[in-house]
Amino acid sequence: MSIHHTIVAEEVYKHFGDVKALDGVSIAAETGKVLGLLGPNGAGKTTLVRILATLLKPDSGNVRVGGIDVLRNKQQVREIIGLAGQYAAVDEILTGRENLVMVGRLYHMSRQDARKRAQELLEQFSLTDAADRSVKTYSGGMRRRLDLAASIVARPSVLFLDEPTTGLDARARIAMWDTIRTLVADGTTLLLTTQYLEEADELADKIVVIDHGKVIAEGTADELKSNMAADFIDITVANPRDTDKAAGLLQTLSDENPHTDGGRGHVSIAVGSGAQSIAEVVRLLDAESIHIAELNLRRPSLNDVFLSITGEEIVEEEAKPKRRGFGRRRSA
Ligand SMILES: Nc1ncnc2c1ncn2[C@@H]1O[C@H](COP(=O)(O)OP(=O)(O)OP(=O)(O)O)[C@@H](O)[C@H]1O
Ligand SMILES: [Mg+2]
Repeated sequence: MSIHHTIVAEEVYKHFGDVKALDGVSIAAETGKVLGLLGPNGAGKTTLVRILATLLKPDSGNVRVGGIDVLRNKQQVREIIGLAGQYAAVDEILTGRENLVMVGRLYHMSRQDARKRAQELLEQFSLTDAADRSVKTYSGGMRRRLDLAASIVARPSVLFLDEPTTGLDARARIAMWDTIRTLVADGTTLLLTTQYLEEADELADKIVVIDHGKVIAEGTADELKSNMAADFIDITVANPRDTDKAAGLLQTLSDENPHTDGGRGHVSIAVGSGAQSIAEVVRLLDAESIHIAELNLRRPSLNDVFLSITGEEIVEEEAKPKRRGFGRRRSA
């Protein structure tokens, strides 16, 4: 692959016992761009990140970062990358400031430079008030920010962020997106893993979807969506007991089965031409005296894309302190 690709993995295999964590994965991240690696629990995201970041050896395959062979020149690669792993790597006992100074010292900065850099980052990540408190007392969002700050102490040109917002509430997540955008604005190449479709859509220039250690789709968010060549009509019926009946009626408008949310009134259906189908939806339901509380026409979401590729739906759970993302639900 060309010099325009800063992160390259070719045909990477890695197994743990019987588990094929990576089953021939190839990806390429363009220089200065954000590549989103999207997949459910156990897809192989962290395994690939750890291989690219020199922490784990693949069984086979080629990996290059910044043009450097990762397997042959670990140390050189380490000098140009930053990594914020899935689980916070900061020291609980130390303060935020001490953590950042320590990382700077590990990168051979002078004591004075390390302190200066720590102060800059504490300000950039809104951690000045908590700077001299032990990390034990930090909230989840503060830890994540400190972790991200620690990953860029040495101003890496290549950054790996493994699920940077999992476990954060909506407000903290949006703040983190802004921070990440600022980081990549000055030319950092970023590989970001996420379980959040919305996050890949927001941040990534290109998205690679992986599942069971294989790439199952790739492209821009728009390309992934347009491959589906369908619009979606979402309706909510006024009486949730009408959900299944409505789904049955709308079935006639589509080649695919409508999706319902288990009787809470929501029905979603893929249609060829949205505008025309809206009239038919209203007519069909009206004829059976089913009242519509809400009706929306939309382009497919990444969740629809995932469902159409894998036959499995991505179910987001509430953000939990244990940092679990989504599980899977077999589609009906
Ligand atoms: N050190 C290990 N020993 C044994 N199995 C492992 C190890 N690391 C990963 N696996 C397995 O490899 C598969 C891929 O794991 P990986 O952590 O890369 O997935 P992931 O996409 O990061 O998932 P998550 O979204 O839950 O973080 C899983 O089945 C996991 O159980
Ligand atoms: Mg992971």
